[in-house]
Parts: sequence; structure tokens; C-alpha cells
Amino acid sequence: MNKENHKSLYTVSMHYDKRLYKQDIAGSIAHTEMLAKQRIITDDEASLIIEGLNNIRKEIEDDLFYWDPNLEDIHMNIESRLFSKIGEVAGKMHTGRSRNDQVATDIRLYCKDIISQTIQVIRSLQYSLLAAADKNKLTVIPGYTHMQRAQPVTLAHHLMAYFHMFQRDKDRFYNALQNTDSLPLGSGALAGVPYEIDREFVADKLGFSRLTPNSMDAVSDRDFLLDYHSAASITMMHISRFAEEIILWSSQEFNFINLDDTYTTGSSIMPQKRNPDFAEIARGKTGRVYGNLTSILTIMKGLPLTYNRDLQEDKEGLFDTVDTLIPTLTIFAGMIDTWKVNSNHTADAATDGYILATDIADYLVRKGETFRNSHGIVANLVRKAISEDKKLNQISIEEYRKLSPLFEEDILGIDFHYSISSRNVYGGTSEDMVAKAIAEANEIMETDVVR
Ligand code: ARG
Repeated sequence: MNKENHKSLYTVSMHYDKRLYKQDIAGSIAHTEMLAKQRIITDDEASLIIEGLNNIRKEIEDDLFYWDPNLEDIHMNIESRLFSKIGEVAGKMHTGRSRNDQVATDIRLYCKDIISQTIQVIRSLQYSLLAAADKNKLTVIPGYTHMQRAQPVTLAHHLMAYFHMFQRDKDRFYNALQNTDSLPLGSGALAGVPYEIDREFVADKLGFSRLTPNSMDAVSDRDFLLDYHSAASITMMHISRFAEEIILWSSQEFNFINLDDTYTTGSSIMPQKRNPDFAEIARGKTGRVYGNLTSILTIMKGLPLTYNRDLQEDKEGLFDTVDTLIPTLTIFAGMIDTWKVNSNHTADAATDGYILATDIADYLVRKGETFRNSHGIVANLVRKAISEDKKLNQISIEEYRKLSPLFEEDILGIDFHYSISSRNVYGGTSEDMVAKAIAEANEIMETDVVR
């Protein structure tokens, strides 16, 4: 490419901002209707403009629209086409408006739509988690700290942890939606417009609940995008944690779950392998979503008031995150709906080793020992068992009693069922509590529809 080519393409945003065509046309129609209502243009002029815009929308949707890179962006492309369709009257559409408040309006409209869609897909993923939790109320798995088996929990309890992460993510998107829901149109280039426009009317037509209260802020603010990108990044962080667990659980070492074949791929040379590619790619894609957040933060840093052309760089990262987040959430719902849980393996893993040590320490506390002493006694017990290559359930009552006279026959009855059902505190893993937690979550889902 020669120097002139680079130069002529450098300022062009048309190839990506054409994604905003619906919002751009809706904004122009609402603005034109307002101009006619306010007698700034005539009804006939407005009708011509609106008909022209509706035809242009159809041309774009039928792929008949010629996008001209010499016209730089979507706004100029649509306006120029309107001129060729209806002549000079097209020039009246932009009365009392600037591309600065126009693009801010387009992008807010787009974001509102995307955020509502995102909330919907998070809801579907939460329903998949709830269904899987409900199916696995009695499936026992080891709970881990430091990636070491720590205490037995139910798989339902583990999955409900993700339900709550996504619930908070959804709240962050609601918050982003609130912050996006103000109409900038009417701010003009930066200082307002010298016509008697009716901003409330336009807000109403376009479904905005509020007007931006300061024209200079309105044309240069992209905080609402930062809210969207932060919510998206935190959601992807949660997805990446879940992805990591799915990758571990489906490995031969864990063998807790089998992913459906449609969520794995085989290796071309190692026939035994079923790679969890979808989970791995999601874990990887988290990086680009963080990148897009960092990018817009950096674009905004140090920008003086008001509109600066740097702001044109707000769009590609946004579209990229949208195209990453919504499919990822959808895929995860499908992955959970179709996996098979190997409850025998998970139970074996939760039985193996010394996972009930804390329960034995708590047993001694209930018999009157202090927690610190009982922790020491059980540490000795585990050390002894390891040195004799025994599991805790292979220790005899006589051996227990040598370590503390407080041990009685009932110590032999401590198993993972006992361990789980004893944690019957609100927020804990007992079967009863988890059943209540699932019921509570279902209630949250019923009341928490898109506001
Ligand atoms: N394509 C531009 C953007 O996305 C539209 C606004 C241009 N305004 C201007 N005064 N050059 O930001």
C-alpha cells in the first residue's frame, strides 16, 4: 500500500460503524419528527426525509447499499444517500444536530440493546446452573483450598457459587444500563443548539428515560462504555474460573465430568484425547475482553473537553467484546446442559485421603476439647495414618483412643454424608441448606426480569 492509500483510509470508520445503521436511522427519524413538530421544518419535508431514511434502512438490510469509504463514516454515508434519493431537502435533516451528539446517541442506543441481550443470556446460563445444581444435590465432590482437597461439599453447592457470581454480574449490567439511559441529542457539537428543539420528545421516541444534563459532558462522555466493559470483564473473569474448573474436571486425573462430544475435539494423532476446546477458548478470550477495557480506559485518559476524534476508537473494542461475551455465555449454558457428571468418581475423590480431618477435630470440640488442642490431636492422627499408609477410615477405635480419651465408637460413623449434613448453616453445604438456596435462587430469578 502506498502512502496516499494509508492516508485516505486512516480516518475511515465506515467499515465498522455501519453496525450502528439501525440506531443511526432511528435517531435521525426521531430528530426529524421533532423538527417538524417544532415547525423548524415542514411536515412535507419531514415526510420526505423519513420515507427516504426508511428506504435506506431497507437497502442496507437487503445488502443493496453502496458503502463509500470516501464518505468516512456511517453518518455521512446515510446522509449522502439521502441527498441522492430526495435531493436538497435532505440537507434539512441535520438542522440542530452535530455528528458529535449523533454518534453519542447511536452508541448509547446500541449499548442499551446489547446490555439487555447480555442480561438475557446471563439469565439462561443461571437457569442452566440451577438445573445442574438441582440434579446434583446429592453428588459429593471434594471442596478445595490451595487446590488441595479440603472438605467435602455437594456439586450443587459448588455450582451455586457460580450462580451468585453471575447474579452480581447481572446487577453490574443493570447498573451499566441505567448509566447508558440518557439522551445526548440536542447537545449539538458541544454547546447546545440555537433552535427551539424538544429534547424530551426525542428521548421519548427513542426510549431514553432521561436527558443528559450538560452538553459538553454529553458529547465527550463514554463512561457508560467503561461500565459495560468493566461488567463484561468481570463476567469473563468468572467465566474463566469456571472454564478452568471444567478443564480440570474433564481431565483423566479428575474425571468428574464428561463433556458432550460437541464441546470437545479429538486430537489428530492421539485418539484417546478429548480436548475441552470451548472452555479453553473462553478462558483465552477473557484476555481480549480485558484488553478492550484497557483500551477504552487508555483512549479516554487525559482527553480534554469536549469531543475529540480519538473517541472514534471507542467502537471496534466494543463490538469485539459484544461478539465475544454473548456467544461465550450461550456456549457455557449448553456445555452445562449436556455434560455428564461421574458421581462415583467425585464421591471416591471426596472419600479418599484425609478430607474428613476437620470433621474429626470438630467432633472432639463437641466432646469438650478446645479447638486448638483438637487440631493438634488430629494433626497427629493424620501424621500417624500417613506413616502407616492408612486412610482415616482404617483407623481402629483403640488407635483413636490412644490419641484422646474423648473418642467414642461414634467416631467411626463420620463420613462425607455426616460432614456435609453437619454444615447446616445459612450459606453452607448441607443438603437442606442447598435445597433452600436453590429455592431462594429460583425466587430471585422470578422477580429479577429485565427492568
Ligand atoms: N465517526 C465519528 C466518531 O465515531 C463521528 C463523529 C465525528 N465528528 C466530528 N466532528 N468529526 O466519533
